[in-house]
Amino acid sequence: MPSDAVKIVEVGPRDGLQNEPSDVSTAQKLALIEALVDAGLACVEATAFVSPRWVPQMADHAEVLTTLMRGPLAQRARFPVLTPNLKGYEAARDAGAREVAVFAAASEAFSQKNINCSIDESLARFRPLLEAAAQDGIAVRGYLSCVLGCPYSGAVSAHKVSELAARLISAGCYEVSLGDTIGVGTPHQTRALIESVSRRIPVSLVAGHFHDTYGQALANVYAAMEAGVRVFDASVAGLGGCPYAKGASGNLATEDLVYLCQGLGVDTGVDLEKLVTAGDDICQALGRANQSRVARAMLAK
Ligand code: HMG
Ligand code: MG
Repeated sequence: MPSDAVKIVEVGPRDGLQNEPSDVSTAQKLALIEALVDAGLACVEATAFVSPRWVPQMADHAEVLTTLMRGPLAQRARFPVLTPNLKGYEAARDAGAREVAVFAAASEAFSQKNINCSIDESLARFRPLLEAAAQDGIAVRGYLSCVLGCPYSGAVSAHKVSELAARLISAGCYEVSLGDTIGVGTPHQTRALIESVSRRIPVSLVAGHFHDTYGQALANVYAAMEAGVRVFDASVAGLGGCPYAKGASGNLATEDLVYLCQGLGVDTGVDLEKLVTAGDDICQALGRANQSRVARAMLAK
């Protein structure tokens, strides 16, 4: 297991809050993002420029991003945002985005439910977005959902995931984040998937995004690390889920990922105590239980 640093993409303010039933004010979101940056997270996915009819929780996207990009935090961290199409991209760019993320799926059924088009149509929609981003000097990350299973159609082939990951990279994405959207994968399956994808694109272009529905996320991270992955998405306090993936729980808790890395002697640049406080504060504000085992253990001391 190499001990090179792991890069964490904190997705709590987006993936964590996009499914939140209670109202979260723009000020609460900004306070959360500031606390995450203060804890040392250098890349925080801030919001999603998606349709407010589809995801009302992200309707304040322009205000969140404009405030961040005009303020002092923009010097200390990157704030990528989700953009499903050119309309979302242009709004994100106008709000000051320096980095965006497109999101496709490895399952046709999920693609239809989540973004209302087929996989091929989604890739065609990304083309003008990627061209505009290249001209504007804006980096584009690619997500691929349902890589280890789909809530609507079940098993997903590693071959299909690998082919789509390669298509996202050749279309211009600088990295592909492989999403176990409903958290069904297990470590051997994860390792086999990463090995399959690595035959198509360098493993340095692959990130892992594991939801923790079945309690396997941390084990899957470890398996992916053994297969060479060094970038992981995680959500403070394990917040979240996808509104278009019924039953999907939150991502791997960032606190648990940081604790694992500390134990492995792998640097993340994150101050675990500050992170636990940030997670505890947002859980208290939302009136929900903290899903991070590490946070619960540290707070109980
Ligand atoms: P659509 O209804 O097919 O879009 O939705 P449309 O192009 O027909 O437009 C319909 C209306 O939406 C129009 O408004 C557009 O202007 C508007 P109207 O004329 O009716 O007033 N519209 C937009 N408004 C704001 N921002 C935009 C935008 N685009 C169109 N960007 C669309 C297609 C993609 C917009 C919709 O399906 C959508 O917003 N989906 C987002 C779903 C979502 O956010 N899901 C969660 C994020 S993905 C995820 O969580 C997985 C991930 O974490 C990885 C993993 O875990 O696997 C990333
Ligand atoms: Mg997700």
